[in-house]
Amino acid sequence: MDCARRDLQIIVLAAGQGKRMKSKLPKVLHRLCGQTLIERVIRAASGLNPKRIVLVIGHSKELVLNELNSWRSRPDFKNIEFKTAIQDEQLGTGHAVQMAFPELDENISKLLIVPGDSPLIKTSTLEPLVTAACAASAPDLLILTTKPTNPHGLGRIVRNKDGSIKKIVEELDCDSEEQKITEVNTSIYAGKTVFFKSMLDKLGSDNAQKEIYLTDIVEVGLNNGSKVEGITTQFQHEVAGANSREELSMLEKIRRAEINRAHMLAGVSFQDPDAAYIDEGVKLGLDSYIGAGVSLKGTCEIGCGVSIDEHSTIINSSIGDNVHIKHASHIEAANIGNGCQIGPFARLRPDSVLEADVRIGNFVETKKVHIQRDAKVNHLTYLGDAEVGEEVNVGAGTITCNYDGFAKHKTTIANGAFIGSNASLVAPVNIGAGAIVGAGSVITEDVPANALAIERSTQKNIDEWAKQKRIGASRKTKGSND
Ligand code: UD1
Ligand code: MG
Repeated sequence: MDCARRDLQIIVLAAGQGKRMKSKLPKVLHRLCGQTLIERVIRAASGLNPKRIVLVIGHSKELVLNELNSWRSRPDFKNIEFKTAIQDEQLGTGHAVQMAFPELDENISKLLIVPGDSPLIKTSTLEPLVTAACAASAPDLLILTTKPTNPHGLGRIVRNKDGSIKKIVEELDCDSEEQKITEVNTSIYAGKTVFFKSMLDKLGSDNAQKEIYLTDIVEVGLNNGSKVEGITTQFQHEVAGANSREELSMLEKIRRAEINRAHMLAGVSFQDPDAAYIDEGVKLGLDSYIGAGVSLKGTCEIGCGVSIDEHSTIINSSIGDNVHIKHASHIEAANIGNGCQIGPFARLRPDSVLEADVRIGNFVETKKVHIQRDAKVNHLTYLGDAEVGEEVNVGAGTITCNYDGFAKHKTTIANGAFIGSNASLVAPVNIGAGAIVGAGSVITEDVPANALAIERSTQKNIDEWAKQKRIGASRKTKGSND
């Protein structure tokens, strides 16, 4: 596999704080459709099959490193050699590349540089630039440029009359003529490793921000007799940076629409594709239906013919075929079998495992439960740390009292048992197969199979008591009026 790797190494710039985000979190750890910006960029870079990726980190470097470690060993990244370079002080993009250089392999002849804050970059965005940089007649440096609808805030590509590239000027350093230029720098560069090595030391910081700009490598290279060219991409969003929350949300909207369109093409219906929030990588089966306001987050696998009604949220869960999730249900780290009906207003917390055809109704909360086929838990119930058998019926208002203030305990309800309404099952406790628990009982002892367990005081009916009470009350009221 390694022998098929390209003679290419990649620097990903991710040391900046991202001041315009106004966040405690470093910019590259913000998320778009469920993935951090840095994961998205590294995925795209990995698709080029490089020999090495050097990630430059600095601001909140431990957090960025934790994020990298959380997925670098996954199969899709397995063959890539990751290195990290530290840029303790963020003195500019040129300085960041200077810091990365000791981690590069100078025997790998081609170098690609990508910013860590362009979350819609795809491998296909980078491919033309890398192909051109790897060609026999390639110039020393190639820059990817684009002509966005709004070039505000971006570095402008200044060209000579003959169309050749002259320099890149950051907006803050632009004169009024340069500000009118619509072609901009994407911050994606490819070229010869030796070219970058020989030019990096020549970068200065004589600019509005007093930073060492990587953009200056163009002018410096040309002044030293190197060949610099540009390739323009029409896919402006794929190279757009997410520098502020507004830019991030705009880019997320674009990606969300692409994700939803792909699901529709694959046979999923949407009540309103502009109002469904589906993370990258979520799987949805044929003939499923997504209501407005639905969020599907993390690693969800949804079967065929599943209806998810308005305002439901599903996180890291697996849902079988022909399941109906009714209005405003919240499901996290659960596993739901075929044909189940959930909600409206149900809450399935982590480790809720439901076999086929289970019914969970409104205002039911479950946590760490295994509920077997055809069981019904239709209203106002809490089941935690419980094993519920086949065809069990749990009445409204049932509570498994699983926590005694010190530890959690288990409740077992065997096949076919019937729990009357408003029962408290004080764990640890076992309800035998086919047993019945009377409504309102507080069950503290095991119930044998097929028994009736009832725990409440005997009812007294006092004849005429209510009527006499009313007469007494009305006399009092009249007296006080006199
Ligand atoms: C940069 C370019 C600009 C281009 C734009 C495209 C420069 C000077 N400007 O501007 O020409 O149009 O990208 O999106 O290069 N970073 C570091 N260390 C630093 C500074 C930045 O690692 O000291 C990283 C950031 O974390 C970020 C990337 O470099 O991932 C780009 O930095 P950013 O501040 O976003 O640059 P822009 O202002 O967007
Ligand atoms: Mg940026």
